[in-house]
Amino acid sequence: MERIVIIGGHGKVALHLAGLLAERGDEAVSVIRNPAHSADVERAGGHPAVLDVEKADVPAMAEAFADADAVVWSAGAGGGDAARTYAVDRDAAQRAIDAAAEAGVRRFVMVSWIGSTPDHGIPEDDPFFAYADAKLAADDHLRASDLDWTILGPGTLTLDPPTGRITTAPQGNGEVGRADVAAVIAAALVQPATIGRFIRFGAGDTLIAEALVAEAGSSAVQA
Ligand SMILES: NC(=O)c1ccc[n+]([C@@H]2O[C@H](COP(=O)([O-])OP(=O)(O)OC[C@H]3O[C@@H](n4cnc5c(N)ncnc54)[C@H](OP(=O)(O)O)[C@@H]3O)[C@@H](O)[C@H]2O)c1
Repeated sequence: MERIVIIGGHGKVALHLAGLLAERGDEAVSVIRNPAHSADVERAGGHPAVLDVEKADVPAMAEAFADADAVVWSAGAGGGDAARTYAVDRDAAQRAIDAAAEAGVRRFVMVSWIGSTPDHGIPEDDPFFAYADAKLAADDHLRASDLDWTILGPGTLTLDPPTGRITTAPQGNGEVGRADVAAVIAAALVQPATIGRFIRFGAGDTLIAEALVAEAGSSAVQA
């Protein structure tokens, strides 16, 4: 049994993930900022831990990560306000990475997005720029750490039911269901070949575990 901390624990991906981890006998510790979300987390199979990561410093986060085997970042400001986007998607994510290192938690899985590369091409005056810039900064911080990291890059998230299948060569905006994103996180956590890799994906035809192994065997999508 592994103890997995999920930051953004009441998020749509995170709730699916807590259920998948509980099903396979892992302990999902779901970090939420609103205590009223505890019941939803418990219903999904997670154990709620209340911590506002926008306000929490590195020691406070490290304390929350104590005894964990892995940390998953699946939080997000949800777009809109640029200052809050930077505060959550960049600054809090970077503190979480530092806190994992401080707590001695080596495994870190980041939920990023399909376009998270320096050539993302989003103009600075585009409302989406803050998100792209913040996510790339968080991803780069993780890459620069000596943690056992995996950066996942799903395309546009949907509420489609789970299929258990993806492609790591997505076309267009790489739409993919949040339930399948959760399954990719769960699979990546137990697949060491995904360590040190940025894996972009969308809905597809290949079984998730096979797609991750095949992608890890290629060097085509390394950022
Ligand atoms: N939307 C897309 O198309 C898309 C595409 C690719 C990747 N992604 C990424 O996928 C991930 C998960 O997506 P999702 O749809 O599951 O997101 P979501 O449902 O919006 O969940 C994000 C969660 O982050 C939490 N959060 C925000 N600020 C927080 C704070 N200060 N402290 C603790 N928790 C905080 C939110 O809590 P509250 O409920 O309290 O607000 C929310 O539950 C995100 O990292 C996102 O950037 C999204």
